[in-house]
Amino acid sequence: MIDVFKLGVIGDPVEHSLSPAIHHQFGQQTNIELAYKAYHVKKQELENFIQAFFKNGGHGLNVTLPHKLDCLDLADIVSDEVRILGAANTLMLNDEKQIVAESTDGKGFIDDCTEKKIQIENKNILIIGAGGASQSIIPSIAYKKPNRLMIDNRSKEKITPLVQKFAEFGVEQFNDLDLEIDLVINATSAGFSGPFQWDINRGLSQKTIFYDLSYGDASIEFLNWSNKFSDKTFDGAGMLVAQAAHSFNLWFNKLPSTKNINF
Ligand code: ATR
Repeated sequence: MIDVFKLGVIGDPVEHSLSPAIHHQFGQQTNIELAYKAYHVKKQELENFIQAFFKNGGHGLNVTLPHKLDCLDLADIVSDEVRILGAANTLMLNDEKQIVAESTDGKGFIDDCTEKKIQIENKNILIIGAGGASQSIIPSIAYKKPNRLMIDNRSKEKITPLVQKFAEFGVEQFNDLDLEIDLVINATSAGFSGPFQWDINRGLSQKTIFYDLSYGDASIEFLNWSNKFSDKTFDGAGMLVAQAAHSFNLWFNKLPSTKNINF
């Protein structure tokens, strides 16, 4: 019987991670005693770290940048969603002590939309950005049956491969400038890498909802830009907590409440 469950998040850098604070509150809420730490792991240490962590009694790991793709090489089993995405954010052991890779970002996004009453069914959804963050939410959005699921990106050449990769999900390149867009999702890393730039403003109105997958300072520019059109703007703090809740559920089979989580 384990008294204290050993958990953590691995990344490079990882010092900024809010996951320890969130998971400790989940632990208190569910009466599960856990020690959740942020581990700074470099790419060349990744394999050894993950193997040793689980061999030495580790119960579960979150994986953040830049290891979301590479950690799959270390997993014995990947979930269907991870196979589609080619990236994972949660690792755990199954009953046979095999390392299983899962992804909870998409579920976290959908849960936060539900919480905020952001409807996806039958709506016109535009995702800006074509990197890992964008891809991690595409299948989950598609399962909710939007009317249109469109992608735009600063570097246009990255759009076609992404549309092909997610062809079965009905993803299309954004080029219908006369379409009314119901939900714009910022999945770019502009908040970390430079000013947010997107020069299209047709199809946007006060009815449009804007959601940044980033939170805190990284979402400020996008939200300021969005406020020119609408006051229905959200950052990704809710998604952060919701995806963490789904990781917790994978480790303990208990979905904690995402309400009143402070960080
Ligand atoms: P992540 O895993 O966070 O998605 P990524 O895979 O490096 O990170 O992808 C970053 C995304 O943000 C890309 O779509 C990138 O656009 P490019 O393909 O043109 O590079 C987008 N991005 C980054 N900085 C941006 C900026 N200042 N304005 C608009 N898009 C930006």
